[in-house]
Amino acid sequence: MLKTHNCGELRIEHSGQTVTLAGWVNNRRDQGGVIFIDLRDRWGLTQIVVDEQDNEQAHSVAEKLRSEYVAQVIGEVRVRPEGTTNPQLPTGGIEVVAREIVLLNPSKTPPFYINQDAKVDETTRMRYRYLDLRRQRMQNNIVLRHKVVKYIRDFLDKQDFVEIETPILFKTTPEGARDFLVPSRLMPGNFYALPQSPQQLKQLLMVAGYERYFQIARCFRDEDLRGDRQPEFTQLDLEMSFVQRDDIIALIEALMIEIAENVVGKTPRFKPFPRIRYYDAMEKYGSDKPDLRYDLAAVDITDIAGKSAFPVFVNNAAEGKPIKVLRAPGMAKRSGTALRKLAEELETIARSAGAKGLAWVALPEQENDEVKGPIGKYFTVDQILEIVDRTGSEGGDLLLFLSDKREIVWSITDLLRRHIAQELNLADPQELAFGWIIDFPMFYWNEEENRWDPSQHMFTMPLPEDLPLLDTDPGAARGSQYDLACNGLEVAGGSVRIANREIQEKIFPLIGLTMEEAREQFGHMLEAFEYGVPPHGGIASGIDRLVMVLAGEPNIREVLAFPKTQTGADIMAGAPSPAEPKQLKELHIRSTVES
Ligand code: AMO
Ligand code: AMP
Repeated sequence: MLKTHNCGELRIEHSGQTVTLAGWVNNRRDQGGVIFIDLRDRWGLTQIVVDEQDNEQAHSVAEKLRSEYVAQVIGEVRVRPEGTTNPQLPTGGIEVVAREIVLLNPSKTPPFYINQDAKVDETTRMRYRYLDLRRQRMQNNIVLRHKVVKYIRDFLDKQDFVEIETPILFKTTPEGARDFLVPSRLMPGNFYALPQSPQQLKQLLMVAGYERYFQIARCFRDEDLRGDRQPEFTQLDLEMSFVQRDDIIALIEALMIEIAENVVGKTPRFKPFPRIRYYDAMEKYGSDKPDLRYDLAAVDITDIAGKSAFPVFVNNAAEGKPIKVLRAPGMAKRSGTALRKLAEELETIARSAGAKGLAWVALPEQENDEVKGPIGKYFTVDQILEIVDRTGSEGGDLLLFLSDKREIVWSITDLLRRHIAQELNLADPQELAFGWIIDFPMFYWNEEENRWDPSQHMFTMPLPEDLPLLDTDPGAARGSQYDLACNGLEVAGGSVRIANREIQEKIFPLIGLTMEEAREQFGHMLEAFEYGVPPHGGIASGIDRLVMVLAGEPNIREVLAFPKTQTGADIMAGAPSPAEPKQLKELHIRSTVES
């Protein structure tokens, strides 16, 4: 090794020892005759001192050093003189007096500061990702990711799981996104599809008798990117035989709690994790991945508002549309103009989710003052008091009234809830609030295609009591799906699978597949299931998202070493890029894009 110690480990106990350090120049301070260098590596910073009087050779090299130069330092550890210790730095009690400095490599001036956590333009960060990754915050994230994955592997290994790799070049495995296709050279006109998940293969491994499988699996989905989505991402993928829903929930819950407590030292807000039915989550929070770090739940007041004098609410109630109140705590405590401005801002947000308006009532801070807002006049004092009581409101609260088709009210609830939480700083980035969402609908109606789409995937088992609904009212059938939400992100999702050919064959026509098409695409599954399939189920957790919440990062790109930009590009390497005509010819591909 070109170093005997790392830059984060020397302490007062090492004083007197001769050591060799190597790393990057974090910064250099020339105090005329004496030069101080903070040398940095993955483990920390160590202060190097070079005095011209003691060591001319080392001093002349130190003079040439600049930020991000790579250097090796041989010297003696000494306790820092009185008054110069730095309690903020783990190595702040010592310094290394350089005997020899070797310049290993110079560096151009980096396009941004590596030694501070300043805001840098995203494109520049991506273009120079290797420099971005050199920064402390990114190193912490990437190392955390390693620790999480290692923890998962050890945890599952102890429980007798087997890690099995499955192919990347495979056949379509639909999870609701577009496939990435890879043309076959050897079989002209044919394509592999990159897996959207190892779903089919892990179920086949259950047929094959492995009983407990897991994989840290790369998945590929060609969909529009968002802050929590990448076209290629990593799942902890897992499947078990001879289990029921609660077995898988218990296993993953224990794993998540251990990771939170042992890897990042945070105790989850709720233990055990709450289990919320899909419908209840939508009714309260308007989301199937609610941020449970704060409450802010919508409360149904259709019965009260339906009897008010506000025609919109009376009509909506008569048409079966709900009227709900979302309470914004303390947000009415502002002047008339500021209050109206806030109400307008919130209304714009509500309208973006399809609302036709956003009625509001500002509760006075003094008990005897009047309520303010455009619809106050339509309610009796008793009705207002009843709403206050039901929503647990207090003086100074702003009550927002949401009324429309149920699904629209859900979207409005979600948007407003998140906006209010942000305004009021309700979400503590240090907190982890996990919660299970269960009893999802089996299907969503696809208006465009005039068919049901599986809400998870086509192998999800309906809840046993809802099986008859497949024939009579598929839209009302609930699946055995379970999702794990944390801080407003879906960090895992899974289900008990259909292990019965008859039920599976009922699903295909509902989702618009003829038996022939089903056999063509999934014949291998159907056939395998005729050879003794055990009851089984599983789950997959998005490692990137999980690390994102554990690190308290706002964007998934912060926890991947080499992520794609919003347009799916790697601007460092320049991918995707045009292919050579010769390559295309070999692949039997003709491009319709002029080069
Ligand atoms: P699902 O589609 O819910 O389930 O995916 C599982 C988890 O993977 C993560 N995830 C993503 N992370 C980053 N970028 C993406 N584009 C992305 N898409 C999904 C999420 C999600 O909860 N085969 C099933 C699992 C099963 O049933 O066992 C599946 O893939 O955290
Ligand atoms: P108006 O009587 O039309 O001036 O409306 C009074 C208030 O009710 C305004 O603040 C509107 O934004 C609001 N409003 C109108 N329609 C709805 C609706 N469907 N849901 C909630 N608020 C509404």
